[in-house]
Amino acid sequence: MEIWLSSIVILVAVATAFFMAFDAWARMRWRRRRLAIDIERYTALADVLAKREAAIVESRLQSTSWKGFRKLRVTRRERETHDVASFYLRPHDGQPLPGFRPGQFLTFRFHHDADREPSVRCYSLSQAHAPVRDYRVTIKRLPPPDDAPEGTSHGEVSSYFHERVSEGSVVEVAPPSGHFTLDLSDGRPAVFIAGGIGITPFLSMLEHLHQHEPEREAWLFHGVKTRQDRIAVDQLQLWARRPSFHFVTCYSIGSGPENLGPFEAEGFVTTDILKRWLPSSNYEFYVCGPPAMMASVMTQLQDWKVPRTSIHYEAFTSESVQEVGAGTADLADAAPRQVSFRSAGKTLRWTPESGTILELAEAHGVFLPSGCRAGNCGTCAAPVLTGSFSALTQPEATVEEGSCLVCVSVPTEDIEFA
Ligand SMILES: Cc1cc2nc3c(=O)[nH]c(=O)nc-3n(C[C@H](O)[C@H](O)[C@H](O)COP(=O)(O)OP(=O)(O)OC[C@H]3O[C@@H](n4cnc5c(N)ncnc54)[C@H](O)[C@@H]3O)c2cc1C
Ligand code: FES
Repeated sequence: MEIWLSSIVILVAVATAFFMAFDAWARMRWRRRRLAIDIERYTALADVLAKREAAIVESRLQSTSWKGFRKLRVTRRERETHDVASFYLRPHDGQPLPGFRPGQFLTFRFHHDADREPSVRCYSLSQAHAPVRDYRVTIKRLPPPDDAPEGTSHGEVSSYFHERVSEGSVVEVAPPSGHFTLDLSDGRPAVFIAGGIGITPFLSMLEHLHQHEPEREAWLFHGVKTRQDRIAVDQLQLWARRPSFHFVTCYSIGSGPENLGPFEAEGFVTTDILKRWLPSSNYEFYVCGPPAMMASVMTQLQDWKVPRTSIHYEAFTSESVQEVGAGTADLADAAPRQVSFRSAGKTLRWTPESGTILELAEAHGVFLPSGCRAGNCGTCAAPVLTGSFSALTQPEATVEEGSCLVCVSVPTEDIEFA
């Protein structure tokens, strides 16, 4: 009897323990499911809020911007390196400046003598927007190409800035524009790959991250010739105190007598260099630099299985557009086409070797207005009478229906311009 009784007690105790454990397990499971549902709801809500905020920012940008060119005064000029300087700009009339998205650029216009068309060039905003802050652009004085004959002049507008623009100068500027911007609505880790002065849009993006998304993982790989060519090092070092941001400098000519630091490398920026630091290719990649560097990095990223939609790039020059565009369009196999310019009374033969329609025209003495030569400023928009064309890159500038940005376009059938 005693054995029976103690067996029943043990059985009841085991059953009670079992039911209590089951109850605790069921509650824990329910709590986990609720947590998962809550996380899903909050993520969806955060997504909606981020999109709404992006829409508000966008409409605010639209409403405060200006049309055409306006005068801005240079308030400060700072030396960055032996051939790079920053220029700070403020409205002539003292009004506050409209906001912009990190990565956007300004378009400048300079007038010459009456017999010459004005020169138009784009320069990226090299700081994030802050309400009571001047705009800043950072400009490299462009040297003549390495193979140019002795005495070839430096870049026209960049030299003008370096030699003639100082505190108090007034310049003509079109509002911030451009689509090469940091995606503010998705918090994906970002990798910025810059060659030389191509770092400027990333300075704006990185400052934005530092101020508004300090947790978001970001890497900057900056290719320069030597230590003397590094830009904004103090600023980058300050931002790199955050565990979420790192920057690696790669020296193509050499790092000099100093030993390489833990975030330095010799050579060009390549995916082999990226792999030394990045655990995978699962990032959003932003690329900006000289034509050859951009073309090779973009090919290597695609070989590393980075989806094309995760690679964003900005071309500073027409060569960059063509180097990068050549990989995406079947340009080499394109058939010859006739390109007619009615006002000039000329019909020219285009082949893939002719380059863009703008280059074809210039090579045959047909003058067409141009500015950035990279699809950004809209200066070269030409009305098309008949025929069709294709752009080598997604242009930043928007043009009227029926117009062609000749600096980035090639004909896809015989084409006639007004
Ligand atoms: C969206 C965008 C953003 C940009 N952001 C920046 C920026 O932040 N910072 C920056 O510094 N640049 C930037 N650029 C580049 C900038 O717009 C200019 O292209 C650059 O400053 C060169 O202009 P330039 O008038 O000085 O040179 P150009 O006179 O247009 O000359 C271009 C090249 O040709 C060479 N050249 C000139 N004359 C001759 C000749 N007779 N024979 C052979 N070669 C010759 C020049 O030396 C130079 O290498 C950006 C461009 C774009 C499209
Ligand atoms: S010259 Fe600027 S868009 Fe063509």
